[in-house]
Amino acid sequence: MSRPCWWRGAVIYQIYPRSFLDTNGDGVGDLPGIVDRLDYVASLGVDAIWISPFFKSPMADFGYDIADQRQVDPLFGTLDDFDRLLDKAHRLGLKVMIDQVFSHTSDQHEWFRESRSSRDNPKADWYVWADAREDGTPPNNWLSLFGGVAWRWEPRRRQYYLHNFLSSQPDLNFHNPQVRQATLDYVKFWLDRGVDGFRLDSINFCFNDAQLRDNPPKPADKRVGRGFSPDNPYAFQYHWYNNTRPENIGFLEELRALVDRYPGAVTLGEISSEDSLATTAEYTSGRRLHMGYSFELLVDDFSAAYIRDTVSRLEEAMTEGWPCWAVSNHDVRRAVTRWGGGGPSPRLARMLAAMVCSLRGSVCVYQGEELGLPEADVPFEALQDPYGIAFWPNFKGRDGCRTPMPWTDADGAGFSAATPWLPVPEAHRPLAARRQHADPGSTLNAFRAFMRWRREQPALVRGSIAFLDTAEPVLAFVREHQGQRMLAAFNLSDAAASLPLPSGGWTLAQGHGLASASIDGGVASLPAYGVLFARAD
Ligand code: BGC
Repeated sequence: MSRPCWWRGAVIYQIYPRSFLDTNGDGVGDLPGIVDRLDYVASLGVDAIWISPFFKSPMADFGYDIADQRQVDPLFGTLDDFDRLLDKAHRLGLKVMIDQVFSHTSDQHEWFRESRSSRDNPKADWYVWADAREDGTPPNNWLSLFGGVAWRWEPRRRQYYLHNFLSSQPDLNFHNPQVRQATLDYVKFWLDRGVDGFRLDSINFCFNDAQLRDNPPKPADKRVGRGFSPDNPYAFQYHWYNNTRPENIGFLEELRALVDRYPGAVTLGEISSEDSLATTAEYTSGRRLHMGYSFELLVDDFSAAYIRDTVSRLEEAMTEGWPCWAVSNHDVRRAVTRWGGGGPSPRLARMLAAMVCSLRGSVCVYQGEELGLPEADVPFEALQDPYGIAFWPNFKGRDGCRTPMPWTDADGAGFSAATPWLPVPEAHRPLAARRQHADPGSTLNAFRAFMRWRREQPALVRGSIAFLDTAEPVLAFVREHQGQRMLAAFNLSDAAASLPLPSGGWTLAQGHGLASASIDGGVASLPAYGVLFARAD
């Protein structure tokens, strides 16, 4: 794929740097570790990497609490390491996207240190400050996604500050033009260094309601989805006022104007709003974001109807934008466990990867998905994620999907010479990359074969999508691009299933490396978690 539209239909491999490869023996992965394993990433046949934050941070939220947006945290290495990473990735034909966290910083950021020091310093208005109500309580009813009220008292100013996430992640005040300019300045810093794009964390959280109006209560039967547990009181409100404010649109346009000065550079927003699909369509129309993704396929629901309805709703809403899908990332339980239960089958892992990479749009694949890793069961004593610690035991947080990559089946999994920051689960060792590399029938090799094949199918990379009205457990659609029509069907169950094919002749496509279906008399038979790709005659 040539610039500048390399990102349309691209497969973006997400690297969580703490857990990729540790080269300096401190139990935490680092940038040199990523450099070391870029050949492996390139061997997967993906187009780009997205690296979760590696900037200077006290690591309260493992890097999503940034203390300096222009510096690499010493735990991860140096700016020179990053430049080497960029250079090697580019030589291997991989684009590099980095995470940017606009809406908040760490409380250790020099902007916040200054802002909190008084009510009249030059950065006094850079964060969201508000007086207490008459009775001393916070100014409104907003809640933090990570638990408790979203306001923390600052004695130096005798005021509250807003934090949508941890109290050590104060929210920036985007109503202040200086804040927007400072944000664009550090985005430019990374564009000038040569990055190919950004994954934009919580992009709909930049602005809050300037009048700080209360969020309305949400009825119990509506408290579902969006990646947070229904035990979390955050789910008890409609988040109309603390995020997704109309002013954000203008900022996205300013951001796009900057990014457009760098041909081929791309923006991918993480969107979680009251109607994430509508917001994704809105944020990707016109000259705003290039792509957006939401938590809609990161939930626990798993049925053909759910996937079809979700994708169709976005297709209807999105007139100009470009979608991006993911079934796994560093914030949710691993997909094969979420959707396959206790003993997930390797065929489920392969089918899921093929399914998500066949939808219209680009795709984020999370490290370890190519190995079919299940969720790790991390005991309470080993938990690191403050979100999991706050909501234990019904919701165990995000550590179970963040355990180190199993590179080998040795002790420590070839990840680190030291005790890793999270334990490597026993169940991951037989799935280690080196083992799977040597096994022609492995999930890893099936993933590679599928990705190689997919790149050569314009209908799967760029085509339109039209769903067939299939009964459970089969999801099926036709992708079409410049006369090439490809029928894709997926059996989402662990029992064989059949699918009457639409009229016209269909010939099984070969070469995708997945255990496939057969066609007989206009009916396809799909084995458990089977996949069908067929071309229109
Ligand atoms: C990231 C999370 C992070 C949160 C706060 C997100 O949605 O993906 O990992 O904790 O934003 O920055």
